[in-house]
Amino acid sequence: MSFNVAIDGPAGAGKSTVAKAVAKEMGLIYVDTGAMYRAMALYMLREGVNLRDTAKIAEKSTRADITIRYEDGVQVVCLNGENVNAYIRTEEVGEAASVTSPVPQVRENMVRLQKALAAGSDCIMDGRDIGTCVLPKAQLKIYLTASSDVRAKRRYDELTAKGESCDLQQIKADIEDRDYRDMHRELSPLKQAEDAVLVDTSHMSQEEVISEIKNLCRQAREK
Ligand code: DC
Repeated sequence: MSFNVAIDGPAGAGKSTVAKAVAKEMGLIYVDTGAMYRAMALYMLREGVNLRDTAKIAEKSTRADITIRYEDGVQVVCLNGENVNAYIRTEEVGEAASVTSPVPQVRENMVRLQKALAAGSDCIMDGRDIGTCVLPKAQLKIYLTASSDVRAKRRYDELTAKGESCDLQQIKADIEDRDYRDMHRELSPLKQAEDAVLVDTSHMSQEEVISEIKNLCRQAREK
């Protein structure tokens, strides 16, 4: 049986940075499920679909073939055969993914793909519904979070370091909107699984978080 670690939590909690680092050190594959939902959202944006039109999103989603492969340990997301890694990291695509991901037809396909990946390999998978829905039997579940003030400040620092001008209050408002949508949707909303370990990173450094999660992984593997 493969060893599976599920990490869920709100946007900007640092899930992907931590999961990537832990995956490397523990010899696990890192599966970034947000990237799959982002690829689907990119498809809808490129097709000019009205994001309020749920029926259209459902219909169009059947024409977006999303697959994953690994190149030197890096996850490559393909949309109808095209590597779209370079196009899915924008705020626009992230926002759109938060709107298109609640559509049942979108989730069904993604969840099927995610379950198959986890069944075939030792992995650490991050997202919103991994512990509650995709991998309910994962050997370790973590709910990684931080206050919206801290998450907004981290994002602000990231953007300003890249030379982009941005407004801290606006970033915080966007993060809170996204939290609300991800937590209040009907299908697989973001919530802490009953058996998940809560890690609040508001007052922790990245190194501390990585070290804590590595310890949790080691303990779970030894069981
Ligand atoms: O983690 P992220 O910011 O890349 O995710 C983008 C959006 O995708 C997020 O707002 C909600 C959605 N998502 C989801 O519904 N389920 C997942 N397992 C992962 C992401």
